[in-house]
Amino acid sequence: MKVFQDFPLQDHNTFKMKVSCRKFIELERPEEIVTLAEQQDLAQPYYILGGGSNVLFTHDYEGTILHPVFQGIETMEEDAQSVTLRVAAGTEWEDLIDHCLEHQYYGLENLTGIPGLVGSAPVQNIGAYGVEVKDCILAVEGYLLPTAEPFRYEAAACQFGYRSSIFKKELSGKCFISHVWFRLSKEPHYTLTYKALTEELAHQQLEPSLENIVRCVRAVRDSKLPNIDEIGCAGSFFQNPVVPEAQATALKSQIPDLVSYPAVNGVKLAAGQLIDKAGWKGYRKDDAGIYPKQALVVVNYGNATPEEIHQLYETVISDVYNKFQITLQPEVNIL
Ligand code: EPU
Repeated sequence: MKVFQDFPLQDHNTFKMKVSCRKFIELERPEEIVTLAEQQDLAQPYYILGGGSNVLFTHDYEGTILHPVFQGIETMEEDAQSVTLRVAAGTEWEDLIDHCLEHQYYGLENLTGIPGLVGSAPVQNIGAYGVEVKDCILAVEGYLLPTAEPFRYEAAACQFGYRSSIFKKELSGKCFISHVWFRLSKEPHYTLTYKALTEELAHQQLEPSLENIVRCVRAVRDSKLPNIDEIGCAGSFFQNPVVPEAQATALKSQIPDLVSYPAVNGVKLAAGQLIDKAGWKGYRKDDAGIYPKQALVVVNYGNATPEEIHQLYETVISDVYNKFQITLQPEVNIL
């Protein structure tokens, strides 16, 4: 492992916040977490940081950042119909997508373009264009903290929900995920429920195939979401709120074209639409703003400070509440 003191985090968070941490530890092998537990390193505040694409640092982090860098994709089982992969937490998500394309494994293609590492994917159950990663996860393996006792949870035990899992709720901060097990299909099998994706396939006159879906998802993403190499952000800043059906019906008098989807405990609304209707889309004050093509994304155009981002998202939350009586919740982890 590599240990750094007073380490700058600007290149480890896609929001590009200029903050630092007291100690930064790169884990080159999963077992190193056991050594850290034995050395009592985990008795101090710590945070497990993957690609830093779903976090907003609001100040310097006065603790230890644990950052997995071990990578690898192992084939554990295979038959004519399916394959089981065990993927190391430090593997880039997009490297896994590329592996699936190369070997023609079906299931994760709609999730192309999501920044971050494989180990972070189950924590918030990443999802896009009609697919959630839980649909392909078989199990999650790692170490319980601070004891570093090994665990393996089958998917059913992970309590996956919309942008949620046991790792984000009762086990938040208590699991060092080392590997994610995926079960993928070797037979063509597509999820084409998302209108913008089917429209893009039709627009490009393409038949569904792994390559074509990846190409079209990337095109749709590029048309709506910032390129994180150019603009600081953490993707969707807010979760889509779930409200009682009666509240959604009442809201239609204010927003006749209200977007809503069936959800477990009511209906899910599009936070981006609410922020857009409240007039914030494209707003910019100094370098903090709301992305002009997708109001769900809070952006740092260069030198926005954590305070400026904080002030902006709090103002948006209270304005959306004042206008629509809906309290938006951040989706990103705020530290
Ligand atoms: N909308 C607006 N104005 C906006 C943005 C959206 O009116 O500024 C409307 C759209 O027209 C559409 C609806 O809201 O009818 C939903 O928008 P979109 O399809 O862009 O999806 P989303 O619900 O805003 C979610 C995820 C995204 C994911 C997309 C595609 C959340 C919090 N976000 O966004 O995830 O890419 O669906 O599946 O669930 C991320 O998590 O970082 C992320 C980008």
